[in-house]
Amino acid sequence: MAKTADLIIDGKTYKLPIVEGTENEVAVDISNLLEEAGVITLDFGYKNTGATKSAITFLDGDKGILRHRGYSIEDLAAKSSFLEVAYLLIFGELPMQDQLDKFSDDIKRHTMVHEDIKKILDGFPSSSHPMGVLASMFCAQTAFYPESLDPNRSAEGVYLSIVRSLAKMPTFAAWAYKNAMGHPVNYPDNSLNYTARFLKMLYALPAEQYEVDPVVADALDKLLILHADHEQNCSTSTVRIVGSSKASIYSSISAGINALWGPLHGGANQEVILMLEAIRKDGGDTEKWINKAKDKNSGFRLMGFGHRVYKNFDPRAKIIKKTADDVLNKLGVNDPVLDIALKLEEVALRDPYFIERKLYPNVDFYSGIIYRALGIPVDMFTVMFAMGRLPGWIAQWKELRENKEPIGRPRQIYTGQNLREYVPIEKR
Ligand code: MLT
Repeated sequence: MAKTADLIIDGKTYKLPIVEGTENEVAVDISNLLEEAGVITLDFGYKNTGATKSAITFLDGDKGILRHRGYSIEDLAAKSSFLEVAYLLIFGELPMQDQLDKFSDDIKRHTMVHEDIKKILDGFPSSSHPMGVLASMFCAQTAFYPESLDPNRSAEGVYLSIVRSLAKMPTFAAWAYKNAMGHPVNYPDNSLNYTARFLKMLYALPAEQYEVDPVVADALDKLLILHADHEQNCSTSTVRIVGSSKASIYSSISAGINALWGPLHGGANQEVILMLEAIRKDGGDTEKWINKAKDKNSGFRLMGFGHRVYKNFDPRAKIIKKTADDVLNKLGVNDPVLDIALKLEEVALRDPYFIERKLYPNVDFYSGIIYRALGIPVDMFTVMFAMGRLPGWIAQWKELRENKEPIGRPRQIYTGQNLREYVPIEKR
């Protein structure tokens, strides 16, 4: 017998279906609540509300579990590559070697962007934040590939859009950086792998022979894996709701880039470094700033601590912390900001104030430190997050489309004025 939940309103009982997932998660299905009971539910920020069923990523906030298509993030970060994880997220299974080779080759074939995109890029002053430039160039693909606007595009056509998205994102990201630096752009060197190709576009200067440091490329590949997907977070939910209107993959993902830009979401890694640099400039007294964080009247909040979903620790943070240690040791980086970060981490992990409030270092706390050690400028940190999250956005957009999910249209509780007559301006 199917399980149900009883909802009693004004003495009348409504039986609501119970839905259970493959990891025994339980939901009350309220799809027909308004029709049957004439009421809706209210859940600011959707913290208690499932928007969909998905087979892509499972996370358990209490146990600190994160899996992609059943594979643990620990396994994937240690043994896989970013393109292989992208394939897994998007197509559901780890690829055979020939499948991965074809995927990588197809991507290489599309790393160039139309020269006219440079006219769009040239329109952005150097003061432009790279995320705004990235979102604009990514969406501009709808102009160069108008067939992507077809809501009923063939599977082959969708595959081409997926490959183009993955191929051109690093080019757009590197060009957004070069635009901020006022430097000429670099074209992709397809003799290199995905992350090395990006690093060379990012850092190579005219008349200089640029060699990609394999330590940096490997660290970046792992960072991209750790950011690849994260269930129904703010930017992914944005991609889904835009995609639910049958908007193209490029405009849906451009919306996700804009959602990720916010300092409470992908912009948090940038805020972490700005916070650490402010503490360093103030003399590096971490105890002083820890006490400010505890003082709710100070208006100061420790960025990079705690998480909306993880209640004990962010599994990605554990992996990224070790990566940070490895990279800094291999690169011989001695960064005073890192010393401050490690002091804050030490206090946060033993201070009852932070422990009681589950304020432990999250993925953003350490990713900013690594990006800084890799020489990536602060304004580019969220762009790196977007590059990593791209396959997750693609996978979620593709799943929504394949499941033929309806257009997203949440309701509200109205709290404004009741009916009143219009008064002509001369009589007000
Ligand atoms: C993410 O990876 O998207 C962030 O941790 C935010 C989230 O999952 O809500």
